[in-house]
Amino acid sequence: MRDIQISISEKSLADLKHWFTNYVHTFQYSESEKQQNIDLKEDHTLRVCKEISYIGKRLGLNDNQLRLAEIIALLHDIGRFEQYARYSTFRDRRSENHAELGIKIIEKFDLLESLDNNTLKSIIVCAIKYHNRHSLPLKESEICLFYSKLIRDADKLDIWKVVIDNYYAQEENRNGTLELDLPDTPGISEEVYNDLINMKTVNMKYLRNLNDFKMLQAGWVFDINFQPTLDCIKKRRYIELIREVLPESRKIDEVFEVIHSSIQN
Ligand SMILES: [Fe+2]
Repeated sequence: MRDIQISISEKSLADLKHWFTNYVHTFQYSESEKQQNIDLKEDHTLRVCKEISYIGKRLGLNDNQLRLAEIIALLHDIGRFEQYARYSTFRDRRSENHAELGIKIIEKFDLLESLDNNTLKSIIVCAIKYHNRHSLPLKESEICLFYSKLIRDADKLDIWKVVIDNYYAQEENRNGTLELDLPDTPGISEEVYNDLINMKTVNMKYLRNLNDFKMLQAGWVFDINFQPTLDCIKKRRYIELIREVLPESRKIDEVFEVIHSSIQN
């Protein structure tokens, strides 16, 4: 994989960042709650660019490889804005897959035209397509899988930040859209418990309440690809912070023991 020559100019990346800002600002709402959701995705994207660069540097990527990673991060959620404009939700199951929608946006605006290299374009499209899949496909090129893993790690690092900030916010500032409008009812679902106790990430279709969603988010540690990402999770105490916003329960404790031991190993 390291043999593949990647060449991306600083200007190409800067132009795309400029386009991104202009594009996002075409989505404007007078209703502050709606505008907040757009801003949230813009800020998230910019932080994921930083996270991916951080992980990439720790893995020893060169400047061209880092620029490629940053373009993927910049565009990974580009479908979110149109998704929200069309459907007023970020729930893919109730609207459409935001990764696929993002690829249509990339094509519509011919965003990767300046890269002038089909291999590069296909790596970017591939990593975006796979960034939100439950798991990665087995049959794919090594380089595509590498950048897919990178964006999946960087994305999770920032989603943890966003959801944890939200769980700790004052009640009136909590964002229901972020919580997928799930009810805050007691207990966790049996299917969620079973997946996590077996060190598997939770399938979205099992979510019945907010506790399930918090558990699913804690279980993302089973889908982390790189050591620098794990180091960040530990340093930022993400798992401990999620545990603290879940109720007292023996089952939940059991799951968190499994989660903690998986991070340590
Ligand atoms: Fe994202």
